[in-house]
Amino acid sequence: MTSFRICPSILNADQDRLPQEIARIALDAELLHLDIMDNIFVPNKTFDFAQSKAIIEESPIPVDVHLMITDPDHLAASYAQAGAASVTFHFEATTDPAGVIASIRGGGARVGMAIKPKTELEIVAQFIADIDMLLIMTVEPGFGGQSFMSDMMPKVKKARTIIDLLPNPRPWLQVDGGISLTTIEAAATAGADTFVVGSALFKAEDPAIAIREMKNILNHGRLA
Ligand code: DX5
Ligand code: ZN
Repeated sequence: MTSFRICPSILNADQDRLPQEIARIALDAELLHLDIMDNIFVPNKTFDFAQSKAIIEESPIPVDVHLMITDPDHLAASYAQAGAASVTFHFEATTDPAGVIASIRGGGARVGMAIKPKTELEIVAQFIADIDMLLIMTVEPGFGGQSFMSDMMPKVKKARTIIDLLPNPRPWLQVDGGISLTTIEAAATAGADTFVVGSALFKAEDPAIAIREMKNILNHGRLA
């Protein structure tokens, strides 16, 4: 049976009460998803390194760092060294993906590689065997609360086919953007096993219950 993972993104959580917001999801979520934006790779800016380090150190669950920055070559390793469980960089942001993969691994974290909606799977296919997680963006990176791009599902399916041909332990297949109680099943059916969820959780009255409902859909399908 597939193991599924829910990774709450705190991008749109209440930033003035982050420890409390994190506590609301910590018992039910597998990983905390931390979106780092530099206002260059994407038109938005979030947590600086000191803030990120504090969140990584204080989080009660492992932290999944998603770097939306132009210079992962120099910066990715420091998030790994700061204690992130995984560090994901964007393929589009570097000319040396193999070097970034090695730097994250050398820092002691799992290695994730992300692709934006317009990036074809074929150009990253050669790297999939060398990473621990492939992130297929289901929105244009930059902001929470956007609509799920269901036209990314063929890309997820293709990635699932490639991953299933690899020996264990196989890389995880993550989706990020617009995941909710109404879209998670389509992403899972296409082959995703790791789900970033931002606004759908933090807008819910009780994010923990929303996570349990999502896992129920993942494990049993939608109840009629
Ligand atoms: C967007 C970020 C996402 C974002 C997801 O660029 O990478 O992680 O927080 O938020 P929702 O789930 O609201 O689309
Ligand atoms: Zn993200």
